[in-house]
Amino acid sequence: MLIKNAYIENSTELMDIRIIDGIFSEIAPNLKANHEEILDLQGKAVFPPFIESHVHLDTCLTAGQPAWNQSGTLFEGIERWSERKKLLSEEDICLRVNEAVRMQAEKGIQYVRTHVDITDPNLLALKTMVKLREELKDLMTIQIIAFPQEGILSFPNGKELLEEAMKLGADGVGAIPHFEFTREYAVESINYCVDLAMRYDALIDVHCDEIDDPEAKGLEVLACRALETGLKDKVTASHTTAMHSYNDAYCSKLFRLLKMSDINFVANPLVNIHLQGRFDHYPKRRGLTRVKELLANGNNVSFGHDDIFDPWYPLRNTDMIDVVHMGLHVGQMMGYEEIMNSYQFITNNAAQTLFLGDSYGIKVGNSADFVVLNAPNFYEVVSNRSELLYSFKAGKKIVETKPAETVLFYGN
Ligand code: FE2
Repeated sequence: MLIKNAYIENSTELMDIRIIDGIFSEIAPNLKANHEEILDLQGKAVFPPFIESHVHLDTCLTAGQPAWNQSGTLFEGIERWSERKKLLSEEDICLRVNEAVRMQAEKGIQYVRTHVDITDPNLLALKTMVKLREELKDLMTIQIIAFPQEGILSFPNGKELLEEAMKLGADGVGAIPHFEFTREYAVESINYCVDLAMRYDALIDVHCDEIDDPEAKGLEVLACRALETGLKDKVTASHTTAMHSYNDAYCSKLFRLLKMSDINFVANPLVNIHLQGRFDHYPKRRGLTRVKELLANGNNVSFGHDDIFDPWYPLRNTDMIDVVHMGLHVGQMMGYEEIMNSYQFITNNAAQTLFLGDSYGIKVGNSADFVVLNAPNFYEVVSNRSELLYSFKAGKKIVETKPAETVLFYGN
């Protein structure tokens, strides 16, 4: 197959892409057709597939069951989920995850890192997600983080459940230091998480300091352990919303350690702006981590949705462009180049977070995975909210959108 006239990753030169047996075989201008299927993009933008680097598939599509989160806080969300968790069955999880993954695929997502709640004596969600990871692999590459939603030290047998989840096949270990009963538990939970990752040769992604409390300092412990163990960029700190409230003197000391540790960050702009600042009167804090400053510090940052119509976020939305759109606004990154390059948050930066290595990206020899958007570059995509025209995986078209047509009847 020959893809003609593509602008790859905001390039200004039109390129052609030849795909043979599901692999990118040639990428160059003006390739000659060779008795093969041709798709002429006529100057549309092509990007590597979108990556959802932080979401909870096990909780998705449960908002309002059995009750809505009325306060809009993270903590009421955890309470509501604790009630819903009692109603879980394998069939319920399979139905919801299948629907959510299809919704994600329709938006050009081909990779998902999902955090799965393991604070359940039966580990039902974890066991079911391990099966679904295999069943859905031709549509979606799913990475599973064992996530102790109700704490490691603060939940009965939390340590044992987390280790059991690793034995059952989770790809990574999580923690939730800001939810542990005490600071001592918070530190011990991170240490336990890191030790487990070392023993199981696993990735780490910690829900780290997801609170407006400037005293929440799990991040310094996590970064320190990432540095000392050498795990470094296999480690991710998600949320880190408390950093929004740290004082600048502390940040200046902290950022030295963050740079040395080389850890990744995931911000979740939609959910952060929705859940944080809830205990403030006015002024209300935005609760987004310091995205610009982390990037300038040399740390990798990607963006995730976090939640799809669940106790923490009430809208049925999987579109990564919405995440970028909100992140650019809340993070005050609205310069031309910042908007143009913001696709990195949901593509290459996210690939670094997921530790995908060289197998990801539009280059000769890689699996022919890519998306096509209805605009010449990402600035126009964000500005015009352009549609996803196609998503190709291993050279096969898995999504096609026909853009809607609007006619204005005025003036003639
Ligand atoms: Fe999360």
